[in-house]
Amino acid sequence: PLPDRVTIVEVGPRDGLQNEKAVVPAATKAELIDRLAEAGCTVIEAGAFVSPKWVPQMAGTPEVLAAIHRKPGVRYPVLVPNLKGLEAAIAARCDEVAVFASASEAFSQKNINCSIAESLERFEPVMERAREAGVKVRGYVSCVLGCPYQGDVPVGDVAAVSRRLHEMGCFEVSLGDTIGRGTPGAARAMTAAVAEVVPVGALALHFHDTYGQALANIHACLELGISVLDSAVGGVGGCPYAKGATGNVATEDLVYMLHGMGIPTGINLAALLEVSRFVSDAIGRPVPSHLAAATAA
Ligand code: HMG
Ligand code: MG
Repeated sequence: PLPDRVTIVEVGPRDGLQNEKAVVPAATKAELIDRLAEAGCTVIEAGAFVSPKWVPQMAGTPEVLAAIHRKPGVRYPVLVPNLKGLEAAIAARCDEVAVFASASEAFSQKNINCSIAESLERFEPVMERAREAGVKVRGYVSCVLGCPYQGDVPVGDVAAVSRRLHEMGCFEVSLGDTIGRGTPGAARAMTAAVAEVVPVGALALHFHDTYGQALANIHACLELGISVLDSAVGGVGGCPYAKGATGNVATEDLVYMLHGMGIPTGINLAALLEVSRFVSDAIGRPVPSHLAAATAA
């Protein structure tokens, strides 16, 4: 059955901007986040506490978090790769973070400079400290439908990493098609396999649109009971360690599809399209979303 309602995790301020060469000022990012909340987004990934040498664009995350106007009922999670990141997030008054692992050994090395097993070990003290501080932890699994270095990624590897993250206390596991290579049959089979080891209510999908398949892939998985979807306003972004990969599915395209199917999201599409134009101005070029092009003045 299709979900009664979908919660969208808006990742534009993090995933959307992390790959931009020119640093977007913290004040602009904070305004983007506030505008997203005004448009009805209830979960907005606000930044990342990662090494500024690895991802310079996320260096301003403390300033961003200090500048936003936190709206009651809205969650503002951030990425943390280790304990150092978590401590910085706690100092910035975050009550939700996300750790990120990979289903591909090669990608794990490139993205976080350690093996999958080492990354999972590194997350144990993060989970413990987060529990102690009352911080909720989400878990990402990258490369669930293919890896830029390794190629195919076995479904069993995706399920194993997802299960570990859930067992160690992640309240939700987000399955990332980092390079947007998946097609609907593969996306559905992968999601169904993971749903055998993690309750489907604790799963989210995080699909990039590199090959134009993201909406089709999401549609194919909705009937499995998935009700949390990650997307980025404007469809901007990519991962610095996945060359050639483009942005997440655009939030406005996703909202348009879901509302068309009669599935509410709580997001005001007209207001969201204005935010999409704001992003376009902030990065100085058109955004790749379909709705942005279809509704351009
Ligand atoms: P490393 O070099 O192995 O770490 O990097 P280290 O512990 O040896 O530390 C090296 C330096 O980084 C030290 O500074 C540390 O203090 C500093 P130095 O002594 O050289 O001046 N450092 C930190 N600084 C700030 N915040 C921290 C932190 N930790 C260490 N948390 C590390 C390992 C994990 C830190 C690095 O590889 C890293 O930051 N990687 C992040 C990569 C990243 O952000 N990728 C993009 C996000 S993932 C993604 O996009 C996929 C996703 O969207 C889902 C999908 O699409 O699939 C989530
Ligand atoms: Mg991503």
